Amino acid sequence: MGAAERWGKLVRDRLDEAERLEPGRGAPGPAFWDARARSFARAMDGSAPRDPFLRRVRIDVDRTTTVLDVGCGPGRFALALARHAREVVALDWSPAMVAIVAARARRAGMANVRCVAGRWEEVDVAPVDVSICSYVLPLAQDPARFLAKLNATTRRRAFVYMGAAPVDLALDPLWRHFHGSPRRPGPTYLDAVDVLADLGIRAEVEVVEVPVRGRYRTVAHAAKAYRDTLAVPDTPEARRELRRLLGQWLVADGDHLRPPVRTLPAAIVSWAPSRRRRPPK
Ligand SMILES: C[S@@+](CC[C@H](N)C(=O)[O-])C[C@H]1O[C@@H](n2cnc3c(N)ncnc32)[C@H](O)[C@@H]1O
Repeated sequence: MGAAERWGKLVRDRLDEAERLEPGRGAPGPAFWDARARSFARAMDGSAPRDPFLRRVRIDVDRTTTVLDVGCGPGRFALALARHAREVVALDWSPAMVAIVAARARRAGMANVRCVAGRWEEVDVAPVDVSICSYVLPLAQDPARFLAKLNATTRRRAFVYMGAAPVDLALDPLWRHFHGSPRRPGPTYLDAVDVLADLGIRAEVEVVEVPVRGRYRTVAHAAKAYRDTLAVPDTPEARRELRRLLGQWLVADGDHLRPPVRTLPAAIVSWAPSRRRRPPK
């Protein structure tokens, strides 16, 4: 089995598990992200300046650089890079995410942010100097197509950012409590490096520590956020049980509650595209 095929199986098995636990949930498409856009934007607010990914990408970006952010979400990296770049194309298939980026760029008086709503695998985007793709790739069912297009659209350096230890690791005791077995594992950055190698691309990897987000005023607020992540049934008993467990698991930090881990490792996978490679047909 090739690396892309192995990846596809990991993603499909994980989606099947989610569907079995919450029938109708399906693959997280644009509507899934539309429904979560505002809460995701709030959760990400203020995270970019402390994130080692931004520091690394900034080295390759100056006033002459064009940047593409694939799966930009509410734009934490796209907007931070727009302060230093010639132009940033912020692309996401969720119209609600794109609307947040556009509104924030307008409010900040940024004229160099261009928003594109569309599925990466299908939209036409002109080549850029630097491309970034943060916490999106593990959702792709066909990583070879996804990465080959990123490679073909990038002139100088492409960056893929993803967890180096899945968030499942921290949540594993809670997941097992509700579902009786560990969550199906998703693909990792090592799988991404393998897929790139099969495309003839030799990537560099830097593993960094990223502060864990998630600050909650009360256990009830945390339970609302974690019910979705942990696929906990939406019944009064299950919600009560989740609040009880979170009451033991979360730790107090000033006037907030937070997860017991402060940081998790993430991988910055990057490469300099060579024009001799062609995306597979
Ligand atoms: C976990 S969020 C990450 C957002 C942002 N990159 C960040 O790091 O804050 C994943 C985002 O990727 C988008 N997305 C997922 N698959 C996509 C695809 N195939 N084409 C375009 N956007 C996609 C989702 O709509 C969502 O906004």
